[in-house]
Amino acid sequence: MKKQGRQVLMGFFYLEKIFGKQRARKLRKKLDRSRLPKHVAIIMDGNGRWAQRRGLPRALGHRAGMESLRTVVELCLELGIQVLTVYAFSTENWKRPQEEVKLLMDLLHEYIQNELDELHHQGVQVRAVGRLNELPSRAWQEVVRAMKVTAANSKMTLNIALNYGGRGEIVDATRRIAELARKGKLHPEEITENLFQEHLYAADLPDPDLLIRPAGELRVSNFLLWQIAYTEFYFTRVNWPDFREEEFLLALISYQNRKRRFGGL
Ligand code: FPP
Repeated sequence: MKKQGRQVLMGFFYLEKIFGKQRARKLRKKLDRSRLPKHVAIIMDGNGRWAQRRGLPRALGHRAGMESLRTVVELCLELGIQVLTVYAFSTENWKRPQEEVKLLMDLLHEYIQNELDELHHQGVQVRAVGRLNELPSRAWQEVVRAMKVTAANSKMTLNIALNYGGRGEIVDATRRIAELARKGKLHPEEITENLFQEHLYAADLPDPDLLIRPAGELRVSNFLLWQIAYTEFYFTRVNWPDFREEEFLLALISYQNRKRRFGGL
């Protein structure tokens, strides 16, 4: 009986995968490839809930989330989306139990070990933003390796937010500017929005056009606070590990149905 139950469940997942592919094919036809966002940012939320609902350890939720990241990077490459920024670890995430923090750092290490060759081969430049020097050295060294190996790639940028907080980024930029002023290299009246922006962690990247937050939460959680001034938001109840091709296409189509005015008419 138990075996039969498992077979039914496997059959269900198989069918769902096939129907999902069919739905994605239909959505692709609705997508206007000439009006895609240049920069997509994602808060990869809901890994824990995804696992909990299946009676699985949270670790498996994060692992499944890593698969979603792989899928979304592939789609960005295929569609020509230039920048993908993902929130992998916030400055607040240190408050989680030590084993979970360790797991997330190990997963980061594993992700780079497993994916770096392919990312490099595909022309992806790997970047990271956040207070990176505070990361455990094993993870930090792997991130530095990925950034060095892929530094000259230009097809797409995968920007990973690690030990990142939007307020912290603004404070860090302010410190750099204050230091210039202290040394007499800058007058306060020279501080403009452009100058401030130049002192952020990834000054050369455009602001995100689209910010996606899965898992039903309707908040920004200290992510890219400066950069999202005119970003379009897309919220979905789907947990990040279930966020695959169909979900990403839905988010892009929703974005394409918006009229962006940037405060104008
Ligand atoms: C939030 O979900 C997710 C995280 C804090 C970590 C995201 C990390 C991954 C997807 C791992 C792969 C990424 C890299 C770059 C290695 P949550 O755990 O808060 O979910 P919950 O709110 O349902 O508990």
